[in-house]
Amino acid sequence: MSAEAASLYSRKNPFPAPLAVNRKLSGEGSEKDTRHFELSLTDSGLKYEVGDSLGVFAKNDPALVDDIIRALHATGDEIVPGCDAGVTKPLREALLTDYQITQPSKQFVQAVAERGGEATAFLRELHDPLRKGDLEEYLWGLEYIDFLIDHPSIHFTSEEFAKLLRKLQPRLYSIASSQKVHSEAVHLTIAVVRYESHGRARKGVASTYLAERVGSDDRVSIFVHTAKGFRPPEDGNTPIIMIGPGTGIAPFRAYLQERKATGAKGKNWLFFGEQRAQHDFLYEDEFKQYQAEGLLTKFDTAFSRDQAHKIYVQNRMLENAAEIWKWIDADGAQIFVCGDAQRMAKDVDAALHKIIETEGGKSPEEAAAYVEELKKAKRYKRDVY
Ligand SMILES: Cc1cc2nc3c(=O)[nH]c(=O)nc-3n(C[C@H](O)[C@H](O)[C@H](O)COP(=O)(O)OP(=O)(O)OC[C@H]3O[C@@H](n4cnc5c(N)ncnc54)[C@H](O)[C@@H]3O)c2cc1C
Ligand SMILES: NC(=O)c1ccc[n+]([C@@H]2O[C@H](COP(=O)([O-])OP(=O)(O)OC[C@H]3O[C@@H](n4cnc5c(N)ncnc54)[C@H](OP(=O)(O)O)[C@@H]3O)[C@@H](O)[C@H]2O)c1
Repeated sequence: MSAEAASLYSRKNPFPAPLAVNRKLSGEGSEKDTRHFELSLTDSGLKYEVGDSLGVFAKNDPALVDDIIRALHATGDEIVPGCDAGVTKPLREALLTDYQITQPSKQFVQAVAERGGEATAFLRELHDPLRKGDLEEYLWGLEYIDFLIDHPSIHFTSEEFAKLLRKLQPRLYSIASSQKVHSEAVHLTIAVVRYESHGRARKGVASTYLAERVGSDDRVSIFVHTAKGFRPPEDGNTPIIMIGPGTGIAPFRAYLQERKATGAKGKNWLFFGEQRAQHDFLYEDEFKQYQAEGLLTKFDTAFSRDQAHKIYVQNRMLENAAEIWKWIDADGAQIFVCGDAQRMAKDVDAALHKIIETEGGKSPEEAAAYVEELKKAKRYKRDVY
């Protein structure tokens, strides 16, 4: 395929990729379902760098689509607007491919509140701007289907309903492979989202699409999302400290493949955390092999549920404070963090400040200034979600 053709595929024109591998990484007995996926890039001309993410356009769960059609008292053949301007299509197709059909839009909730009479008076009250938090709390875990079933007296035509929906957005996944090693493939590490709320089993759209619904003849619409701010150092001699609990491990698998392929001489230190060593040690064999080869200079794990009290990656960082400080301050290491944004990334950041304070003999303000300098020098990079 020519270089010109390489530019054919983009977010606007995604590549239809076969899903070559869908393998469970979580072992028997795990509370999680984290999987390794490989998509074929053959004939796509797509290029990616380690640190980049892959965009995936998923399709909704047909069982949920059927439930919604039934609750609307529709057949699915009704012609409705699609998400692209001027395009119309049958309701079933629009619900499968065009629209977010799980967490409800503000417009939809507002329409339910307005049309429900006495039964939705409480919902109208929750729309008071002063009660934003209460409304959010009420909506947590509720989906379109719950409102349709719980308020059968409110009627939406198929067209009205479609017009209240938001566009289904692609999901991003950190790329878990180096193209220097896998020239025709892209690897992903994905935690499949399944939970129960209000008595119903729920499914994350894209993670369950890849895990459960893509068949061998299907194609997954993908694009490369470049992340120049999350690249490993250009100079292979620069040491790197990688902190990636859970699926945050994905880009670091790619970094290590790349550092090995390019013969980079810099030291590599990986912190990985998950629930239990026995079931949740993602890519255990690969990382232990890298450690045995000496590619992984240091490898620390934190299995949070293997003992009575929680142990997290930041605990391991603090246990190694003096050496981390040496890697950063004396050796010029770069620090990378990937994974959960809400809790983990904040706590890891706090641990980094603490290490700089205690080992560098700095006040909290001086440590904060030091971290700012690291960020400015592009030596502290995060890809958190
Ligand atoms: C740059 C970037 C990189 C990423 N990399 C990865 C990666 O490598 N691996 C990975 O697995 N993910 C990654 N993600 C996250 C990924 O993009 C998706 O957000 C994730 O897979 C969930 O998508 P989904 O479509 O399966 O679920 P969705 O359909 O989006 O459902 C998730 C939503 O369900 C609701 N929800 C979830 N749990 C509950 C609950 N218990 N109770 C009530 N409601 C709940 C919440 O509203 C939540 O937002 C990344 C995100 C970004 C931005
Ligand atoms: N909707 C869902 O069902 C669901 C399920 C899992 C994750 N998620 C979300 O998906 C993303 C990635 O999840 P993931 O599966 O990759 O792994 P994760 O949930 O981030 O868990 C990975 C490891 O991090 C630990 N952890 C929890 N809190 C932490 C903290 N404050 N600091 C450091 N480590 C911490 C976990 O321990 P413990 O779990 O033992 O506390 C676990 O050992 C996150 O954004 C998460 O919020 C959603």
